[in-house]
Amino acid sequence: MSNPTAEESKSGYLVLARKYRPRTFSEVVGQEAVVKTLQNALKENRVAHAYLFSGMRGVGKTTVARILAKALNCEKGPTPEPCNVCFMCQAINEEKLLDFIEIDGASNRSIEDVKALRESVQYEPMHSRYRVIIIDEVHQLSRDAFNALLKTLEEPPTRTVFIFATTEFHKVPRTIVSRCQHFVFKKLSIREIISHLKFIAGKEGLIVSDYSLKLVAEAADGSLRDAETLLDQLISFAGNEISDHDAETVLGVIDRNLFQNMVEAILQGKSEKVFDQVENLISAGYDLRYFYSGLIEFFRNLLVLKVTEKPEEFLLVPKEDLETWCQLISELKAEEILRYLLILQEGEAGLRYSSQPRIFLESWLIKLCYLPRLKPLEKVLREIDNLKAEIKGKVSIQNSTYQVNPVENKAVKQAKFGNYQKAEKSSPMAANKNGFTIFGNEIVDQLYNRLVREKPTLAPIFKIASRVEVNNEKIRLIYSSDKKHFAALIERDLAFLNRLASEVSSKGLELEIVPGSQAEAEPRATLKPGERSSGTSHGPGINGQTGSFLEDPKARAVLETLKGHVVGVKKKNSVEKNHKT
Ligand SMILES: Nc1ncnc2c1ncn2[C@@H]1O[C@H](COP(=O)(O)OP(=O)(O)OP(=O)(O)O)[C@@H](O)[C@H]1O
Ligand SMILES: [Mg+2]
Ligand SMILES: [Zn+2]
Repeated sequence: MSNPTAEESKSGYLVLARKYRPRTFSEVVGQEAVVKTLQNALKENRVAHAYLFSGMRGVGKTTVARILAKALNCEKGPTPEPCNVCFMCQAINEEKLLDFIEIDGASNRSIEDVKALRESVQYEPMHSRYRVIIIDEVHQLSRDAFNALLKTLEEPPTRTVFIFATTEFHKVPRTIVSRCQHFVFKKLSIREIISHLKFIAGKEGLIVSDYSLKLVAEAADGSLRDAETLLDQLISFAGNEISDHDAETVLGVIDRNLFQNMVEAILQGKSEKVFDQVENLISAGYDLRYFYSGLIEFFRNLLVLKVTEKPEEFLLVPKEDLETWCQLISELKAEEILRYLLILQEGEAGLRYSSQPRIFLESWLIKLCYLPRLKPLEKVLREIDNLKAEIKGKVSIQNSTYQVNPVENKAVKQAKFGNYQKAEKSSPMAANKNGFTIFGNEIVDQLYNRLVREKPTLAPIFKIASRVEVNNEKIRLIYSSDKKHFAALIERDLAFLNRLASEVSSKGLELEIVPGSQAEAEPRATLKPGERSSGTSHGPGINGQTGSFLEDPKARAVLETLKGHVVGVKKKNSVEKNHKT
């Protein structure tokens, strides 16, 4: 690739950009589409008379134009690849061929310049197969010059190829564009640049890390010439051994530690550190907006680190940095890093237009410090499960409380629904094969069913009773004071009811109607409609306390198991007192 002869500087040192100017199509980095199309045209001898190469600075436009000129004029050509050793190739490489004309559009932009050019192309090329005229920065030509050029393109001189190059395609008049074959030279990727720089470093015997080359490539922003020039600069600064720090210094890149420290402060929510860090940036003379865009990139890199399997393929950073970063984000989910990244991006425009960038930066970074951590989804789901289990537990405890202490729960229910007994009575009845099950006690239910069939007018009066109590001798229908008149009504049919009662029970139960006060209708060892009776025998000494006691399912279970009956009930604290004494 190197051909120092014509391009060597006076000092003998040839800058990398010139030393490594590709001499064949195969040496051109990237630009595959352009190269392929041109080589095919050369193979098929279908070379156009005018080309327009557009693309940013330093991506190979002039280089490719020269290779094309050689390919057309090579003694072995026209050929898809010039030999670079024949007289013609060498003459073009050394810029000594008269029929190879390079014009700078910026300094030869007048109509006179173009007229002179037109005159010079009137005649057939004398020394070569093709005359090749390269007009660089063609967009700089004046309007008149363009018009003159247009005429030339309309009547193209024989065996002459025009190559116009421009970094500002949109400034080239459409009339010119439409008469040329247009090739777009693309910006080179960081990868392409790094790999080319590595190639050069190898040739030059440089010791330089991938990270440093990445910094160079990033700074070059798609231009291979810029990358080569920066590498030259680095060599001048550091010699053949270039450290990461050298690269950072020369390229004016912000110290990685500053980013790392800032990110650490943000992720750990240490807002007080933000001020220190910003102070450091300012005293080191860094541009805050530049830092900010670096911070965005830092979070992007953390995201790459989190989501990719082989992050080292995407992130050209020193290995020890990768390890530090891994620790930094070990607790974070990808969504969280993404959130930081998005919020940072939101702030970018604000920082750019802020009249007080320092304050803007500080407040935005502190905002990030206060960003609440997202909980991992699995953790949230786990917590929901736990909560569910807890609630279930509470509910079942409540249910069992309800069974253990129905009096208390009745009070609660009453508070909520008003008259509890009324509510219970109006609840839908379930039918069994014998008739209705309302009271839950077999005998009382049978009695009620007989009433429904045999004296339907009496059934509702029976049903409306506030409480029904059963023991071995009696069925007591208790009516609260507001239902006294029902008691009086049913009293009239007591004989009939007694007959039914003795029929439905083998024990010959007697019916008793109690037109009681409200207090009497309060719970005892009774059956409320819909409540199952244990069928326990209750002695005549039943009092209010015994009633509540017997509503306790545990107590009932004990009585049932022991086949006993309640003699008296003592209050819990008095029992405790007794125990103490
Ligand atoms: N695609 C490429 N492949 C290899 N080297 C390249 C490429 N592009 C640029 N270079 C390097 O950059 C130098 C300058 O390239 P070239 O003169 O072709 O750029 P250009 O596109 O014409 O830029 P400008 O618009 O500034 O004239 C070359 O000598 C070469 O070292
Ligand atoms: Mg050029
Ligand atoms: Zn040749």
